[in-house]
Amino acid sequence: MKFHVIDLIHKKRSGKRLNKEEIHSFISGYTWGTIPDYQMAAFLMAVYFQGMDFQETTNLTQAMMHSGTMIRLADIKKPKIDKHSTGGIGDKVSLVLAPLVASCGVCVPMISGRGLGHTGGTLDKLESIPGMRTHLSIKEFKKQLTKIGVAMIGQTAEIAPADKKMYALRDVTATVDSIPLIAASIMSKKLAEGLDGLVLDVKFGSGAFMNDFEDAEELAETMIQIGKRTRVKVVALLTDMNNPLGEYIGNSLEIIEAIETLKNRGPEDLMELTIALGELMLEIAGIEGGSKILERKIMSGEALHKFKEIISHQGGDLRIIEDYSRLPVAKNKVRILAPKAGYIHIIDNFKIGMLLVKLGGGRLTKEDTIDPSCGFRIYKKIGDVVKKRECIGEILCDHNTKARVVAEELNNVFTIRKKLCRPKRLIREIIY
Ligand code: URA
Repeated sequence: MKFHVIDLIHKKRSGKRLNKEEIHSFISGYTWGTIPDYQMAAFLMAVYFQGMDFQETTNLTQAMMHSGTMIRLADIKKPKIDKHSTGGIGDKVSLVLAPLVASCGVCVPMISGRGLGHTGGTLDKLESIPGMRTHLSIKEFKKQLTKIGVAMIGQTAEIAPADKKMYALRDVTATVDSIPLIAASIMSKKLAEGLDGLVLDVKFGSGAFMNDFEDAEELAETMIQIGKRTRVKVVALLTDMNNPLGEYIGNSLEIIEAIETLKNRGPEDLMELTIALGELMLEIAGIEGGSKILERKIMSGEALHKFKEIISHQGGDLRIIEDYSRLPVAKNKVRILAPKAGYIHIIDNFKIGMLLVKLGGGRLTKEDTIDPSCGFRIYKKIGDVVKKRECIGEILCDHNTKARVVAEELNNVFTIRKKLCRPKRLIREIIY
């Protein structure tokens, strides 16, 4: 290697800026194993404390992106646009948005993750559909994109392998919550998809990765700046995650809610966010029509048809579209009643996510297996009025003891006060 690893760590530790060559050399050394974990851990901690400017973060992103395979989609003539969400509670937007936008003529090469901790993952939700394959090879992925314009798969080992190693190390060295490291991690994987554009849903609030609006804004701005420097159109929506999105939380339950939304029977907030993100995807794809065309594709059934195509191409059981009993859904229900009358002031979304883990529907470590059948239905949003003993939530779980234990805790998720409380605005800001 041309550089001394210790010099590079020292330089970053002293708050100086590493240049493109230095960063590329460090990341490729780590990917190939010539730089050990302990030196990368020191580097990550130096970045954590000293930060990185936009250009340095872009160089880090590109170095991580080039650590693996770049998917080349130039043969597909449609605009290639994806969406990324920083994750939340009940966030099943991708399941509706990918087929919806693809039905408008956009190519959507969607690579998603699994749930971890309090946030859910699109892959786990998709895998609750019997037979559904989410591990396609890059060749199969491209073939499906060429044929139907959309595929929804999991991260492959070939894409940004540096990120996989670095993320695992960040997890055990208290360096996850660093904005340049998060931005580079997300963008390295997304840019490797060969996109023309990317729409980001950066969430803030109790169920989000970023609690504070200001941090979410800084993360969004950083990712937009990476887009500008790599010539990929990136737009971000900043959205409130203090309420669960939709009514259902849990893998199979969210598939049902997404299908209901594609049948034009979905909850208002899920529809609002899906349409807003879809409009931005169409805008950067250069397709006119905005929300009107998206709404038309739902009304006409074309968006649902595209979802069916995704399921059938990926080996899933299409009969679930009309017969939800073919999905693994718990039969046992426990109702949660409001202990007093008043207004809902707080819903502790983080806690709801962790209670899903307790039910078995989420995971604490990447190795944990999940039970797709369980989850919650939350009837109320912040600002809603409740009567004493009104049903505000429901637990669906066939394991009686678990359901009873979680029921007691789910009650504490809601803060009800006499004082009037205003509803939360879901979409707070658009950043270009
Ligand atoms: N999601 C990612 O992909 N990377 C991070 O660092 C954080 C969230």
